[in-house]
Amino acid sequence: MKTGILNSNYQLLAESYLFSQIAEKVSRFQTAHSQTRIIRLGIGDVTRPIVPTVIDAMHRAVDEMASSETFRGYGPEQGYLFLREAIAQGEYAPRGVELSPDEIFVSDGSKCDVANFQELFSDRVRIAIPDPVYPVYLDSNVMAGRAGALQSDGHYDNIVYLSANAENDFQLDPPHCPVALIYLCSPNNPTGTVLSRETLTRFVRYAQENGAIILFDAAYANYIQDDALVHTIYEIEGAKECAVEFRSFSKSAGFTGVRCAFTVVPRQMEMLRKMWLRRQTTKFNGVNYIVQRGAAAVYSPEGAAETREVIASYMRNAALIRESLQACGATVYGGKDAPYIWWKLPRETDSFQFFDTLLENCAVVGTPGGGFGPQGKHYFRLTAFGDPARTKLAMERIAAQKKILF
Ligand code: MLT
Repeated sequence: MKTGILNSNYQLLAESYLFSQIAEKVSRFQTAHSQTRIIRLGIGDVTRPIVPTVIDAMHRAVDEMASSETFRGYGPEQGYLFLREAIAQGEYAPRGVELSPDEIFVSDGSKCDVANFQELFSDRVRIAIPDPVYPVYLDSNVMAGRAGALQSDGHYDNIVYLSANAENDFQLDPPHCPVALIYLCSPNNPTGTVLSRETLTRFVRYAQENGAIILFDAAYANYIQDDALVHTIYEIEGAKECAVEFRSFSKSAGFTGVRCAFTVVPRQMEMLRKMWLRRQTTKFNGVNYIVQRGAAAVYSPEGAAETREVIASYMRNAALIRESLQACGATVYGGKDAPYIWWKLPRETDSFQFFDTLLENCAVVGTPGGGFGPQGKHYFRLTAFGDPARTKLAMERIAAQKKILF
């Protein structure tokens, strides 16, 4: 094949996607140590089953597919109205945000939506991303040719990086130069911290003044425990004119395997809303009916109570991880309003080296902070999505290796 016909931007990417690279390392370790029971607190994948009310709704939908009276073929690309109405009422109305169903686009995942949304913009626009960052925002823009060359410090030439660290209490500053697109994630992956109302207001003002668009990833919003914190960017005045929000059932309702999410593009950004509709109707055939019935059941009183209990159980894991690491003398962030714990490694330890040390000595998998950007290189991410007993065991194994890990 002639390489000249390929998208050369792919040459600018790291060789493999962060979580594929980790999965490969873990699989090699497991092959070499077949008797060892590895505990996986790496990728943020849920472990609790989908709650009974949601499963019942999916079973009923399966039965509907078995009868010619209720069978469904292609559904609306944007999602069935019953789900979009349930989202508007169940997710936004309680936060005082009014949305109409045609501002909501149901999809098969926030990862895809957040990666695809940049297609609506010129390949010459400048983007800003946090450092550290969920790698999809960066990689999808590298693929589209917006990043420029990779520098020796791990940053790309044309990207504006917004530092999130302990010094600024993980409250990013808006860019100091004009950019067209800003990616934000709160509650944050990977740091597990939450952007304050004041920080979000500063970003919305920046976007209004500079004609920028905020791409707001709120996939972990339902993990927020403190009701006073911002759950949706539309709680900030003016956000409907400049922000697109990505939400997901993956982490809030155990849908990582089932796949269902949604993106909100408000009417105040009508040109963008129409473009996304055009894009979705052309490239996507909608999420299947069975899954959408399951997702809608999350908003029934029983479904909501059951999913809240699952989230509470993950948040007990988060507290256990945080407290166990702190008891060993570690500095940790996050884990209070998000399912991720961001562990500051001692003595400026390299996070990829630490990954190997932890795997070899404790058979525990985490995610090296360096995989999320240069600012993460001395941090390590653990997820609260594990089984409670195995999470406890992981913490015991880590405490037993206190001398080498802390
Ligand atoms: C993560 O571990 O960061 C997440 O599972 C990634 C994702 O949701 O795609």
